[in-house]
Amino acid sequence: MLYSNPMTVAVIGTGFVGVVSAAAYASFGNTVVGLDIDEKKVADLQSGLVPFHEPGLPELLREALDSGNLTFTTDYKKAISNARVIIIAVGTPSKADGSADLTYVHAASEAMAGYLQPGAVVVVKSTVPPGTLHSVDEIIGKHTDVSYDLASVPEFLKEGTAVADTLKPDRVVIGATKDSTIKILSELHEPFNAEIVVVSPESAQMAKYAANSYLATRITFANQIANLCEHTGAQIDEVLSAIGLDQRIGSHYWYPGLGYGGSCFPKDVRELKHFAEQVGEVPNIFSAINELNEKRIPGIIEKLDAAVGGMGGKKIAVLGLAFKPNTDDMREAPCLSVIPKLVEKGAEVRGFDPAALSVARQILKEQSGLLLVDSLEQALEDADVVIVLIEWPEFVNFDYSMTKLDKKQWLFDARNQLDPAKVKSWGYEYIGIGQN
Ligand code: UGA
Repeated sequence: MLYSNPMTVAVIGTGFVGVVSAAAYASFGNTVVGLDIDEKKVADLQSGLVPFHEPGLPELLREALDSGNLTFTTDYKKAISNARVIIIAVGTPSKADGSADLTYVHAASEAMAGYLQPGAVVVVKSTVPPGTLHSVDEIIGKHTDVSYDLASVPEFLKEGTAVADTLKPDRVVIGATKDSTIKILSELHEPFNAEIVVVSPESAQMAKYAANSYLATRITFANQIANLCEHTGAQIDEVLSAIGLDQRIGSHYWYPGLGYGGSCFPKDVRELKHFAEQVGEVPNIFSAINELNEKRIPGIIEKLDAAVGGMGGKKIAVLGLAFKPNTDDMREAPCLSVIPKLVEKGAEVRGFDPAALSVARQILKEQSGLLLVDSLEQALEDADVVIVLIEWPEFVNFDYSMTKLDKKQWLFDARNQLDPAKVKSWGYEYIGIGQN
């Protein structure tokens, strides 16, 4: 569906959320300018190159560029002076104390302020703590005399399925108070064909933290039940399928594993923990979730070490270096905690990933005990232990009987995605999560 009345939109920040959003708004017929201070990124995007792995995004970007609805620039004046809606989608990393670092949000606010056209709506899409619009308002107000309004429209897309999540979201949350702003933003999001929830800016910001923290809690809960299963003869997958049929619980999104990673859950849980502590909400659940998640990998590696009779001298294939399938993002990826522990225990590790190899080569320095290889087969060569760390389909569907050797071999299925009976029939010792 295209708009009858397309808008001029500027998206500040061409990271993950910025690029996907800019291309999506342009695909519905709006005139969109993506703005970034990084000249190389802007030049790459303008020529259709996406600087990270995201299925479907190169095609969406190419279409938007070819339609003439999307351009990229480093020039604030060019991007902002014609824009009806300005979307701030810059990064908000965590500070050392766990609070959100708003430096880039504030810098973008200051840089755009002088070019705002009267009636412009400035939307914060970056994940920010409730109350952030006050500081944004103060900064913009100091640098312009024109009338403008502010709103918060958080992003709920997942990496790996970002295009589908953005074009067909479960809901659009608009945090705004002024009727004219609610009207503009409702019109902008109309073609997304999703339920629009209009709330206060603070509620929108809290909803973003609450959604991520709730999902992180679900995962941590499943992981802790999995630990208990290992002491009881119960199987975690059977337990989850049994309770998931309760409509109040649901059988989605809490598959056990090595804990949650990525650029969002760990950071957002820590930020909510910090916020809770600041307002005197102690003890709080976020602190427990964060601690359990941080301790998960060290605990599992010890169990694995015992199960394989010590890792010293063993050849270990680590399959999956990104934080999850269909991305090359390695922020808080499990391999970053797992590999150093294996190397420390004297294992010879070979790591492989279908998309994240070049990112991995920058982050994980090859060292004695670690080799990053170019194919699954190379990683599996002569391995004593195979670790399916990330559930890429090529690892889940691989026939490991082809690499079975005449020696004892173990397969650790860190996401419970393989069929234990099949793995055992190939001659491997199977180790899963929350199984006996
Ligand atoms: C997450 C949220 O799902 C998005 O809604 C949100 O917009 C995004 O953060 C964000 O704040 O930007 P994302 O980090 O891309 O999206 O990835 P998820 O698919 O949610 O996975 C997060 C972590 O949880 C991964 O490490 C994944 O392996 C783990 N996970 C996920 C589990 O351990 N079990 C599950 O059942 C699902």
